[in-house]
Amino acid sequence: MSKSIAGFSKLSKSKKIDWMVETYFSNAEQAKTVLKQYWNTNEKLQTLHDEFIENTITNYYLPLGVAPNFLINDTLYTIPMAIEESSVVAAASKAAKFWLDRGGFKTTVISTTKIGQVHFMYHGDKDILKNYFNHIKSQLIEDAKPITKNMEKRGGGILDIELRDKTNEIDDYYQLHASFETLDAMGANFINSCLEQFAKTFKTEALTFDGFNDEEKQIQIVMSILSNYVPECLVRAEVSCKVEDLTENENISAEEFATKFVQAVNIAEIEPYRAVTHNKGIMNGIDAVVLATGNDFRAIEACAHAYASRNGRYSSLSHAKVENGMFTFWIEMPLALGTVGGLTGLHPLVKLSLELLHYPNAKELMQIVAVAGLAQNFAALRSLTTTGIQQGHMKMHLMNILNQFEATNDEKLILTEQFKNQTVSHSAVVEAIETLRSKSN
Ligand code: MEV
Repeated sequence: MSKSIAGFSKLSKSKKIDWMVETYFSNAEQAKTVLKQYWNTNEKLQTLHDEFIENTITNYYLPLGVAPNFLINDTLYTIPMAIEESSVVAAASKAAKFWLDRGGFKTTVISTTKIGQVHFMYHGDKDILKNYFNHIKSQLIEDAKPITKNMEKRGGGILDIELRDKTNEIDDYYQLHASFETLDAMGANFINSCLEQFAKTFKTEALTFDGFNDEEKQIQIVMSILSNYVPECLVRAEVSCKVEDLTENENISAEEFATKFVQAVNIAEIEPYRAVTHNKGIMNGIDAVVLATGNDFRAIEACAHAYASRNGRYSSLSHAKVENGMFTFWIEMPLALGTVGGLTGLHPLVKLSLELLHYPNAKELMQIVAVAGLAQNFAALRSLTTTGIQQGHMKMHLMNILNQFEATNDEKLILTEQFKNQTVSHSAVVEAIETLRSKSN
């Protein structure tokens, strides 16, 4: 029977672990050994990781892989990817190589505006609220100057603040809807600090605004928070080539491949059941680079899926067409990323990843990440419309199955060789391990 605990966060790391293993584990020593295996012997590095969050008990590893040969706007990149799914890095590398020979990826940043909102309640005359907003707007911006002055020096800051009336949906509900340019920062702290200052000024100054009656003066701030929905922080990545240059596979003609590929994308555009999986494949590439570069993959995910639903039906983030003998495949999606602030200057592997990418600014990182998503989607659709996904997927998964059965290095060598010419399935691998082991006994 587990029990609650008071003051857990105040305990030392080892006391936290003692309490946890003794409360929840049948073999406390074994659980401790597992946790300790993942500690870093470099004390400084371990402390850094301990202090990223509260109640750290150990580290949780993900592999960091790299996908070379990405030609983006005529510059070559090797892209870092942090991900556990076995086939993702291999698929990205394959797509990069395919497009390297066909002119590479072309990208553009369309816009970089971020959004934040102060949500508030006001009971009273709408016109007087509008007057108050017009009267106070410049002071909202002025009072936030201590927060914005450095960002402004670099060319960013508050772009605009609007008053939005939402009373059709919730009685008395209004917003200060603000837009920002945060340059190379993802901007969450900057935006939230500005919004909290707007809220303070907006509420306080209302108390002495002549136009309001006593009730109208009592503006209720509900909350002040950035929006992770950034449909105006958009990037586009594209590949294109002559249809006849598409083929590498003697089992399917270039024309047939192009037709099936476009059909597959069209299906994802109109069929939400397919679109979710299609976009999941895109996010395989995107999240892996977002994580490797120390960005917030939850924000990126939430925004991507909201954007995919912007027309009222969940749809594909990528598009494809064949026109005048040219095959074009592209993605346009919002990506609010940063290359300064947050983990970017703190996590040694994030710093390494950014150096590997030639220290991109936020706009360059948006383009690299969009390319990783498009490449991943290309690789998935290419397999799906030709060989089927399982061939490549299971080949990469073979090592996971072998590790599950604690295969020795010799067994791994023999079995990976054997499965070069045999379809990989869980049962086929298990059978092969058993046969191999029975022979050696
Ligand atoms: C698997 O992680 C991703 C795919 O299912 C994506 C897709 O179906 O397009 C292969």
